[in-house]
Amino acid sequence: MRIFVAGGSGAVGRRLIPVLVERGHAVVALTRHPAKVAELEALGASPAVADALDPAAVTAAVVQARPEVVIHELTALKGMRDFRHLDRSFAATNRLRTEGTDNLLVAARAAGARRFVAQSYAGWPYARVGGPAKSEEEPLDPNPPRGARETLAAIRHLETAVLAAPELEGVVLRYGGLYGPGTSLEPGGEQFEDLRRRRFPVVGSGAGIWSFLHVDDAAQATAQAVECGAPGLYNVVDDDPAPAAVWLPALARMIGAPSPLRLPAWLARLVAGEFVVAAMTEIRGASNAKARRELGWEPHHQSWRTGFATLMGEPRPVRAAA
Ligand SMILES: NC(=O)c1ccc[n+]([C@@H]2O[C@H](COP(=O)([O-])OP(=O)(O)OC[C@H]3O[C@@H](n4cnc5c(N)ncnc54)[C@H](OP(=O)(O)O)[C@@H]3O)[C@@H](O)[C@H]2O)c1
Repeated sequence: MRIFVAGGSGAVGRRLIPVLVERGHAVVALTRHPAKVAELEALGASPAVADALDPAAVTAAVVQARPEVVIHELTALKGMRDFRHLDRSFAATNRLRTEGTDNLLVAARAAGARRFVAQSYAGWPYARVGGPAKSEEEPLDPNPPRGARETLAAIRHLETAVLAAPELEGVVLRYGGLYGPGTSLEPGGEQFEDLRRRRFPVVGSGAGIWSFLHVDDAAQATAQAVECGAPGLYNVVDDDPAPAAVWLPALARMIGAPSPLRLPAWLARLVAGEFVVAAMTEIRGASNAKARRELGWEPHHQSWRTGFATLMGEPRPVRAAA
């Protein structure tokens, strides 16, 4: 198939292009930067240079590519560290999830594409009530933490626009917290370094549940969603949602960092804001049962425990045959 990847030069896109090419697809990948053209070509894609926030330019690029499937992996989170003002930190990403999504949907329809696969997020957007691992039917947070409301509204916009787009099979992939090459959770990445410097404390009970996803598993699930599966929402996460009080100290040990500090919730609320306290004490993870069942996908890195360990150069444990 001919496939257009918006965000082809990003953390997911760079792992996704070779997977699509390997499966026999012809890929056109979008970047704003002529300097990244050679890298996209080396990955096996034909480059298209345009800004996704320029409706005419992005439509021209997609129409020229004549794709059957358009993939939306646009975000702008590099170097993001300010979780106190999440909406401010996510402002550019929120624009890509609203205007950028609308532009790409118009472009996909103008190009006669059949299917549209978009990145969303599983985890803190779910309502902070009930069980630890949410299914796609469960509601998003009706009352998100202060500072995160525009960000959740942008996620809602993307999901609604993609699922309701006329003439397109809309597929929304709610990825877990991404880790691995090109992300902030890899050796040298911002969050690993914050952990090393004891700037990533466990807050309060640490009962907030996080679902993770290795970027290579994101790439494999996305390739599956290109080729099969009914339109709709899919959580794409590993099998091991874990409380912050468990995964943070475990990751610190794995990377040889000192044990994370413990910060009372009242103090964290003052210094880091409401979102951080919610993320550390209240949020829920997600279940991948639907993606396993309907996309025929399963995570290679079934737990962040082994996934993070492989980033540190430890061999992945061989699982006993069933
Ligand atoms: N689920 C998650 O946990 C999650 C999701 C997303 C990101 N992240 C984290 O965020 C960090 C980096 O993410 P990132 O979003 O900065 O970078 P990224 O994933 O490396 O790439 C973002 C992609 O969006 C493209 N893009 C951005 N604005 C664009 C525009 N106006 N027009 C066309 N393309 C545009 C970029 O293309 P060009 O720059 O080449 O134009 C690039 O291909 C990673 O550490 C990752 O861990 C996490």
